[in-house]
Amino acid sequence: MLRSRVLGTGSYVPEKVLTNAELESMVETSDDWISSRTGIRERRVAVEESTSDMAARAAKAALKESGVSPKDIDLIVVGTVTPEMAFPSTACAVQSQLGIRAGAAAFDVSAACSGFLYALDIADKYLKAGGVKKALVIGVDRFSQLLDWKDRSTCVLFGDGAGAVVLSAEKGAKGVLSCHIHADGKHWEMLYAKSGLQPSPFDKREAEPAAIRMNGNETFKIAVRTMGQAIKEVLDDTGIKPEDIALLIPHQANLRIINAIRERLDLPEDRVFTNLDKFGNTSAGSIPLALDEAAKQGRVKDGDIVLFVAFGGGLTWASAAIKW
Ligand code: UT7
Repeated sequence: MLRSRVLGTGSYVPEKVLTNAELESMVETSDDWISSRTGIRERRVAVEESTSDMAARAAKAALKESGVSPKDIDLIVVGTVTPEMAFPSTACAVQSQLGIRAGAAAFDVSAACSGFLYALDIADKYLKAGGVKKALVIGVDRFSQLLDWKDRSTCVLFGDGAGAVVLSAEKGAKGVLSCHIHADGKHWEMLYAKSGLQPSPFDKREAEPAAIRMNGNETFKIAVRTMGQAIKEVLDDTGIKPEDIALLIPHQANLRIINAIRERLDLPEDRVFTNLDKFGNTSAGSIPLALDEAAKQGRVKDGDIVLFVAFGGGLTWASAAIKW
């Protein structure tokens, strides 16, 4: 049986750090409120780099670590909701920037904060089916462009960043064991951003700014419930027990959400990876950015079971298990 094995990980965050203290001078907020309600202390903000620049830099690092040549990549899937172009896709821009062979398939997936796991699920299915041998899966978002910087209830939460993995179809027990993606569009108003397209001269609808709107409180409750269900789904599918989980890498939206999930699973703190204190919520970038950091710190070892769970606008949610 073919499995999608991770051969390398990479990530990229912009250099510019925006601290909670700096946000105090921009909106009516405090370091104490942000850190106690979310766990976030600072985040990165892109200055020069576009979404595709960030994606390409993360992917380049993942390719380098994997030893796979850009000429051997058959498929590029990018999870993002902040592409700098309506088209072509961010995936096509990455293909061009990295010199990935002409003829490889390349496309983006829109699933907000669940974008990376959606992209992983799609790539995994192509790899298992045998048509694709090597795939590049990227999660990237540049939410600094999509924020209303006067809205304290959202602008303190997000940051910019990207992460990537190189996957290879290989025989054996290692690789993606299980992956699940879901959505419930009827709750779209909980968390959304308009696209920012210009109204035409014929438009009868009122133009709305392209900025994130979120019902934080409700989203919080649904996030805890749905991510709990998504983890159960992956455990039931694989027979993995909570005590078998070497590391849980959840979407990095809020430390209180992560702690609620951890407590439900009765996992000790050291088996749940968090880095939102440094990067905030980087949307589709969050899970692969955390995975790369965890791997570089030696927190993911050969043979380990690593679980992933995400939740985001759509509403969307997803989970996956990988044997490292
Ligand atoms: O990644 C996609 C998924 N996203 C999420 O999962 C986010 C889920 N939601 C959350 O993380 C939390 O709901 C928030 C962090 C967004 C908000 O935390 P909360 O504990 O739910 O606060 P709240 O929205 O109930 O607001 C409490 C108070 C309000 O004031 P009043 O009405 O009690 O006087 C807000 O106006 O905190 C106020 N507030 C702030 N105060 C200082 C809201 N934002 C801020 C702020 N600084 N930045």
